Amino acid sequence: MKKRIAVVPGDGIGPEVIKQAVKVLEAVSNRYNHEFTLDYALMGAIAIDETGEPLPKETVDICMMSDAVLFGAIGHPKYDNNPRAQVRPEQGLLRLRKALGLYANIRPVRLFDSLIDRSPLKQERIYGTNLVVFRELTSGIYFGEKGRIEGGNAAFDTCYYNVEEIIRIAKMAFEAASRRRGLLSLVDKANVLESSRLWREVVQKMALEYPDVLVDYLFVDNAAMQVVQQPSRFDVILTENMFGDIISDETSVITGSIGLLPSASLGLSSSLFEPIHGSYPEATGKDIANPLATILSLAMLLEHLELVDEARRVEAAVELVIDKGLVTPDLNKEHFISCSKVGDVVAMMVESDLDEDTSFDNIFEGNLPLI
Ligand code: IPM
Ligand code: MG
Repeated sequence: MKKRIAVVPGDGIGPEVIKQAVKVLEAVSNRYNHEFTLDYALMGAIAIDETGEPLPKETVDICMMSDAVLFGAIGHPKYDNNPRAQVRPEQGLLRLRKALGLYANIRPVRLFDSLIDRSPLKQERIYGTNLVVFRELTSGIYFGEKGRIEGGNAAFDTCYYNVEEIIRIAKMAFEAASRRRGLLSLVDKANVLESSRLWREVVQKMALEYPDVLVDYLFVDNAAMQVVQQPSRFDVILTENMFGDIISDETSVITGSIGLLPSASLGLSSSLFEPIHGSYPEATGKDIANPLATILSLAMLLEHLELVDEARRVEAAVELVIDKGLVTPDLNKEHFISCSKVGDVVAMMVESDLDEDTSFDNIFEGNLPLI
């Protein structure tokens, strides 16, 4: 199969983790005889440095032409502490989401059995967690009218939603719920916000078309409590843009490391796959970042391209490296390997058939096991 993938490494640890996912993609193409053409593009602080723009037009064109986009991370501390900066790296990602119409951000949270003790939450609380957040991504308060008024002494951001924007993502979430355990939780603030009341109205109406899906409604403050108190009660969480941003970071602590969570953003033109973590500036260039979230995002990308066996093989390799303890310091402070070695091992596992007894002990000394 021939596919064009746009690769957007972005800022901070983005390029390091993307490099590992590209190794894994090469392993997939070797094993399964696929031809992936990779087109690299700039976005974020690096794009501002090189072109003055967080999202150069060329990047939009490359992404539009692609079958899928693989993205690393965005953001740089030099902008974070300057609220007056007119040009910001994050604008690049927001504009790309809008340009590609990526209205559905899908963030699955699943536990790895061998990491259950890494979670800051009690095991009995998190056991059996398997949930997915469907976050609306191209509207709401992120994209509504905003500005400064009263001579700059007041500011506003508008949370706007229309019915079509709600229906299209709710449809995806209902369909996912009916394929999964049949529970959809709408997270909103309908006791206060008019836009949330519109979400409820639309979702209540749609629920009639999905008799196999049970719908429950939670206010976001209550949901924020329940996702850490009883995460296993959730199946599909459907929510608007900003609540989804917050809730999905919160759900990421369940697994023990934000470095494990992938995401897919699906929409109208192309689709984008990225780890949910940020650019982690403190770790940049140190080869210590966890590349697994990006590699798992690659698995979601492959599945989206209907390369299901390939996706499952990548996921199985990730599970194996975790089981074997071949992980970065975020998962094991005493016994760890580098970001690039994790990439090497996953790629090797994808490409070659290893048997159960292959020893990985020598990897800690800098060698790959001989096969
Ligand atoms: C995310 C990020 C982005 C967001 C930022 C970088 C604009 O936090 O993808 O969750 O808020 O959507
Ligand atoms: Mg976020």
